[in-house]
Amino acid sequence: MPASHRIRRPRIYRPTATNLARLAAALRRGAIVGVPSETVYGLAADALSPEACARIFEAKGRPTTDPLIVHIASASDLDRVAIADERAWRLARACWPGPLTLVLPKRPAVPDLVTAGKNTVAVRVPAHLQFRRLIRLSGRPLAAPSANPFGYISPTTAAHVRDSLVGTSLKAVLDGGECAVGVESTIVDLSRPQGRPRLLRPGGLPVEEIERILREPVSRPGNVRVAAGTAAPAPGMLARHYSPRTPLKLYSRIDAATIAALPSGDAALLLRRPRDVKEFAGRVRWLSESGQLKAIARNLFAMLRALDTAGWRCIHAEMPSGSDGLALAIRDRLTRAAARR
Ligand code: TXA
Ligand code: MG
Repeated sequence: MPASHRIRRPRIYRPTATNLARLAAALRRGAIVGVPSETVYGLAADALSPEACARIFEAKGRPTTDPLIVHIASASDLDRVAIADERAWRLARACWPGPLTLVLPKRPAVPDLVTAGKNTVAVRVPAHLQFRRLIRLSGRPLAAPSANPFGYISPTTAAHVRDSLVGTSLKAVLDGGECAVGVESTIVDLSRPQGRPRLLRPGGLPVEEIERILREPVSRPGNVRVAAGTAAPAPGMLARHYSPRTPLKLYSRIDAATIAALPSGDAALLLRRPRDVKEFAGRVRWLSESGQLKAIARNLFAMLRALDTAGWRCIHAEMPSGSDGLALAIRDRLTRAAARR
């Protein structure tokens, strides 16, 4: 086959010093690079270059009405991109590096494309060491959404990124192992100094922890659903998102009788390992040994992706009950993943 007809697959790079230097140079030249983080893998570009960031939107097929998160190596760089007040600093000191994104008034240096023309910018310091090293080496803040085609399941390994962005301008993915948290960062809007902090997306940092640090309640807008195509307050808020192509049905509990009654060709995804595994042949999977929310969050996207590519007709999945701690983020992702087009 002539080289020009070969489909280009992004290459995966081990996090050696040489590779980090090479990828940092690529970022400085305006390329996009797949990057590991503790939450999910990101698709990074120089946040101060509209040309570089345009490549992110193109590769993801993401509408430009949907703004990007800006990643910095340390809280001491926050002033370069945003205007932080006392509350923002308190959260930054307590939670960074970590799975918390703050929405704050933006500095003029941040291009309109990154913020979708808003006067606010979303910022976070990731906990993943190799990602932070790459930000430092590149010498720029890096804009990065999750590295999935728009609307599809978020990636939690380098291979997920490579496999779902074949044929785009993405050439390189930094391999930082499996994501430790497994769901995206929690997004809190602190852009109105007088107003109450608002939860825009539940995520890896429980909102109760944020309330404890701020010593004030964070308003939860509820399950805000926004139709595709309209500007969302945060498109984690799109009704349908994180979605497998296989139909997904949700249950508060799936027991042996439910499984026995499923049509052949359907799979069940449980929150914990069932006692009588053998009975169910190959069509039952589980997200944790005994229901630990951290394990469920860590395994959720990879398991949905594996089930989605295995040819099942329908996936029947259990949802955790309750809405505190990580349960809120897990329920949010499953609910949107199951929403109809
Ligand atoms: O964990 C994460 O946050 C990952 C990793 C790579 O850091 N990133 C991530 O990015 O989840 P993305 O683009 O998939 O989701 C970012 C969300 C979007 O829903 C976007 O609308 C919202 O952040 N967002 C970005 N800037 C915003 C702003 N100025 N105001 C409100 N929402 C904003
Ligand atoms: Mg995303």
